[in-house]
Amino acid sequence: MKTPSFLAAAFLLLFFSFKNQAQTIKPGKIWPDNNGVHINAHGGGMLIHNGKYYWFGEHKTEGRRGNAAWVGVHCYSSENLTDWKDEGIALEVSDDPESPIVEGCVLERPKVIYNEKTGKFVLWFHLELKGQGYTAAKTGVAVADNVTGPYTFLEALNPNAGHWPANYPGELKNKTFSDDLESWSEEWLQAVKDGLFVHRDFEKGQMSRDMTLYIDNDGTAYHIHAAEENLTLHISELNEDYTGFTGKYIRVLPTGHNEAPSIFKRNGKYYMITSGCTGWDPNAARLLVSDAVMGEWQYVENPCVGEDADITFDSQSTYVFPVQGEEDAFIFMADRWRPQNAIDGRYVWLPVQFKENGMPYLEWMDEWSLGFFE
Ligand code: DGJ
Repeated sequence: MKTPSFLAAAFLLLFFSFKNQAQTIKPGKIWPDNNGVHINAHGGGMLIHNGKYYWFGEHKTEGRRGNAAWVGVHCYSSENLTDWKDEGIALEVSDDPESPIVEGCVLERPKVIYNEKTGKFVLWFHLELKGQGYTAAKTGVAVADNVTGPYTFLEALNPNAGHWPANYPGELKNKTFSDDLESWSEEWLQAVKDGLFVHRDFEKGQMSRDMTLYIDNDGTAYHIHAAEENLTLHISELNEDYTGFTGKYIRVLPTGHNEAPSIFKRNGKYYMITSGCTGWDPNAARLLVSDAVMGEWQYVENPCVGEDADITFDSQSTYVFPVQGEEDAFIFMADRWRPQNAIDGRYVWLPVQFKENGMPYLEWMDEWSLGFFE
């Protein structure tokens, strides 16, 4: 018969070994929440509010069909980035067939920001209308008084209708384009560079697929989205309450074919990590740098190094966020998609490291902890 002190010691050992396990980040593994269920927040983003992290992402369901939205946007909270509490569904899809966010629509890459002036939380997401594939290319917006929701859906739109990009040459505004250019031909690519799709979508508003949000130090918020048939990123300024567009926007790397944008700032420079466009399959990430959000973005290189750097360690970027209480510490969030069984998608989080020349880079780690930044 075992003595009570032996049992107590065994219990403590077990407790601490579980606790230690819980305090590391294991990219690509199952990440249980407080109920022991794998976190269901894909294509997500992080809001830091009153000392807590809030992770919002796509709630996927079992099977291939689970890539469409049958539930909504899932929210989790944490104080240490390893113990995650399920906060439930922040934005529910609707059972009203007339609603743009009806069950079965495509609702991807939700991001939440907090507006200091209005005291509201604002959630934006990529929306594709039910049954229309990826043709609508809209962005949707919802607001809440409480960080975890419930969020009230406001509208879905194509941004910047009737506005030219701020960095679009005046002489191209009157350009006419031939209708019968062969896709991907040199002439077609030149036409896209010259604004073929900007013109096409001028009246109804620009396309907005993969997206993220960024608030600059002066409180101005930006909506960064894959536009022009995914060939060009747009960075669009949001209005004061963050629920609409001002009409000021720029084109970034026309014909660069970037999606999955994530953005952060360090030492006065803005960095963007994106991916190429290969559906659910991974490809090489891209690093872009600029001196201003609405500035001249330059392509730098693939920020990933080492084995599987050419496929972003089998993942696709979704967000980069600063670690609280640490200087210069950023975490890169990415998704390892599992399109055949969407709910089994995994999360690849890696610390952002910096080269001597200041450029960020990412390398694979099987397991790491926040101690990495100390
Ligand atoms: C890649 C995008 O980044 C994802 O969010 C999703 O839209 C898939 N394409 C769909 O194929």
